[in-house]
Amino acid sequence: MRVLVTGGAGFIGANFVHWTLAHRPEVQVTVLDALTYAADGSSLAGAAPLVQGDIADAELVDRLVADTDLVVHFAAETHNDNSLSDPSPFVRTNVMGTFTLLEACRRHGVRLHHVSTDEVYGDLELDDPARFTESTPYNPSSPYSSTKAASDLLVRAWVRSFGLTATLSNCSNNYGPYQHVEKFIPRQITNVLDGLRPRLYGDGLNVRDWIHVDDHNSAVWAIVDRGRSGETYLIGADGEESNRTVVEAILRGLGQPEDAFDLVPDRPGHDRRYAIDSSKLRTELGWTPQYGDFAAGLRATIDWYRENQAWWRPQKAATEAKYAKVGQ
Ligand code: NAD
Ligand code: TYD
Repeated sequence: MRVLVTGGAGFIGANFVHWTLAHRPEVQVTVLDALTYAADGSSLAGAAPLVQGDIADAELVDRLVADTDLVVHFAAETHNDNSLSDPSPFVRTNVMGTFTLLEACRRHGVRLHHVSTDEVYGDLELDDPARFTESTPYNPSSPYSSTKAASDLLVRAWVRSFGLTATLSNCSNNYGPYQHVEKFIPRQITNVLDGLRPRLYGDGLNVRDWIHVDDHNSAVWAIVDRGRSGETYLIGADGEESNRTVVEAILRGLGQPEDAFDLVPDRPGHDRRYAIDSSKLRTELGWTPQYGDFAAGLRATIDWYRENQAWWRPQKAATEAKYAKVGQ
């Protein structure tokens, strides 16, 4: 089986390539990645051939899709804070890029698995017992989540109108190795390693539903193997934590007092809480997460950043300079 992985030099995509090669030796992977600021070719460590290119480049995409059996589509602009300072690449990559892939898949009769986020559903109140399900109405808040929502709707329409074979997954917040230092958990770990204080937006009480990146990727394979075309599957591992609790655990894990953080100005439109009900994936497809213990997964992630400073250090100063400009 030949698989084209878009965004395979980014955080989840690179972990997907490693997971695939370790668990699915029969699969031949090719990566298509534009190598934006968010990518790091070294995350792949030469594990798969890498084509540097844009998913919105119709000619290139047509050629690559013609030569594959399946596209697993991770490529996207992914950081909410960036989408607030400049939404334009989000519209281009997330909407036009996905459209370009869909058209190529349609022309060549190739199956697509579209990787998306739970943020398309908007947010929940802290005291709401509800969690997102596959039938929660779309209600995205940010340029990032609205462009991901748009891409999801395009995929659904291509299945219905053109008979494309495609599945979709919407996952909660991932953590693990190779995540860019702009994101919450790596930012705070590398801050502490650099002698800087973690920075919590607003009151620090916003809740995210954390899942280890390998659990996300094993779920993607469960959907590729056993999912039904046109269906959406929510991926989550019951990992709800407030941002403050996560920062306290990072500080403890690195031998610092757990109140050694700063509260900084809130993100505009900041979603309060995400929470996933992944019953459909578990009961229909028999998937279960392997990293049930968030505290243990976080400790392993702290160790990874401590031991792989050469990987993240080149990005750190520029990332902090960008945050400093907006007082975060
Ligand atoms: P990331 O920002 O780490 O990586 C994105 C990758 O896409 C980068 O390698 C980048 O170079 C590439 N890319 C960007 N624009 C491109 C373009 N025009 N053409 C080709 N490649 C391009 O992102 P991530 O965290 O690995 O997220 C991967 C996917 O998973 C995204 O679709 C995201 O919406 C989704 N997702 C992420 C999370 C999370 O917690 N990180 C949760 C749920 C879903
Ligand atoms: P982030 O990693 O940007 O993911 P998302 O916005 O997709 O959930 O942020 C996770 C949470 O952490 C979110 O509530 C915003 C918050 N946050 C901080 O409090 N401080 C930070 O420095 C960052 C980057 C995020």
